Amino acid sequence: MEQAEIGLIGLGVMGSNLSLNIAEKGNKIAVFNRTAEVTRKFHAEAGALQNQIVPCETLGEFVAAIRPPRPIIIMIKAGDPVDQQMEHLKPYLSTGDIMIDAGNANFRDTMRRFDNLKDSGLTFIGMGVSGGEEGARHGPSIMVGGTEESWKRVEKVLTSISAKFNGEPCVAWLGENGAGHFVKTIHNGIEYADMQMIAEIYGILRDGLGMSASEIGNVFGRWNTGRLNSYLIEISEKVLKANDPISGKPMVDVIVDRAGQKGTGKWSVIEAQNMGVAATAIEAAVAGRILSSQREERVAAERIFGLPKAERPKDGMAFLADLENALLAAKIGAYAQGFAVMAAASAEYNWNLPMPTIARIWRAGCIIRSQFLDEITSAFTKDPHVANLIVTPAFSKMVKETDGALRRVVSYAALSGLPVPALSSALSYFDAYRRSRGTANLIQAQRDFFGAHGFDRLDGVDKHHGPWGSGLEEFA
Ligand code: 6PG
Repeated sequence: MEQAEIGLIGLGVMGSNLSLNIAEKGNKIAVFNRTAEVTRKFHAEAGALQNQIVPCETLGEFVAAIRPPRPIIIMIKAGDPVDQQMEHLKPYLSTGDIMIDAGNANFRDTMRRFDNLKDSGLTFIGMGVSGGEEGARHGPSIMVGGTEESWKRVEKVLTSISAKFNGEPCVAWLGENGAGHFVKTIHNGIEYADMQMIAEIYGILRDGLGMSASEIGNVFGRWNTGRLNSYLIEISEKVLKANDPISGKPMVDVIVDRAGQKGTGKWSVIEAQNMGVAATAIEAAVAGRILSSQREERVAAERIFGLPKAERPKDGMAFLADLENALLAAKIGAYAQGFAVMAAASAEYNWNLPMPTIARIWRAGCIIRSQFLDEITSAFTKDPHVANLIVTPAFSKMVKETDGALRRVVSYAALSGLPVPALSSALSYFDAYRRSRGTANLIQAQRDFFGAHGFDRLDGVDKHHGPWGSGLEEFA
């Protein structure tokens, strides 16, 4: 019997969909699930794709069904289960075989797993997969990290199943060991910021302008035909227009305002901080989810403080145009920060991350897919090593066109008591980044005053301490 080109362990929703996608693109695939009944059911329901799928009930049978060197995708819950699965699988594998973790792993775990296999003859790929259930089934964006040799073994299958943007596959080998999972983490960090910013704009439309869910849906629908065209705006329109079959009310109006999170946003922020990169919009988005989860405290605080009255903007149409431009301006800040974090990580871990390629494979398939990413692709293709996306000619032009709107929207929100942490942090990031003379001179003076930490002088004179005395006078 012809051997399978690839194997997959874990037939949950993502694993099943990915397997069907692999089979549908003409690749024979062996599948295994801890509970054999799940495997049987999956195969029985695979319809016309049954012939492409080899259902296996033991790991021995599963491994034997795959052509060596065997690429095996592990699509199970991130964390310890992956380590356990790898340990179970290892005794069945031979030199050159490749274990592929396709979950949302912390890249530090990926690095560790990669290193642990170093002398075993086996190898490891950390593979970020974005696009949710639909993407897994019909074309995700795939971010691969591992050895170039192992990439070569899986390139054909992964290219066949990936999303395509104007015919170009949204999959790439991004570097050694943790590169793929790191890039996926930052993808998610940007996803958090993008979603938070859209939610903040929704809040202004709902609580400032008093618009209904479906009216806001219409606004997003219009924006989706313009420069904000993206999957997240598209689905925002859809969810805002959906009604609850139980109450008949707009669905969003019956959903508790408490956002979940599984860790990738937080990891993005931690890694940005570790490397000394300002990723304020992503930080604001993670903090926004944390505050959202403290619902009882928010309810109690509203009883104490009440809510300020939001004035309706005088010119509603002009304000709507401002909101659209403000979202674009803030989004540029968030993406610029995400790419800056990846640039720092690339240097720190010697990954040589290809920025234009990352933007290119995010244009379709993934959750943050958009027209905008095509523009980022062009900007990075022209200047792959630019210090920051916002100073590229195309994006600096966009920022100049839209930062005024962001300023007006953030001011309006502040005066109306509407929280816009991600929009305002993006604005402050821009204002701090483009100002040659900041205010850290005072911080340096304070540090020197209380701790003799020293400072540099603008005139270059070789005197690095202030005339502040000992700083201990007040204790005398
Ligand atoms: C994707 C998504 C996907 C998933 C996240 C959501 O790229 O397909 O990012 O990975 O939806 O896990 O993360 P939170 O549960 O943390 O929001």
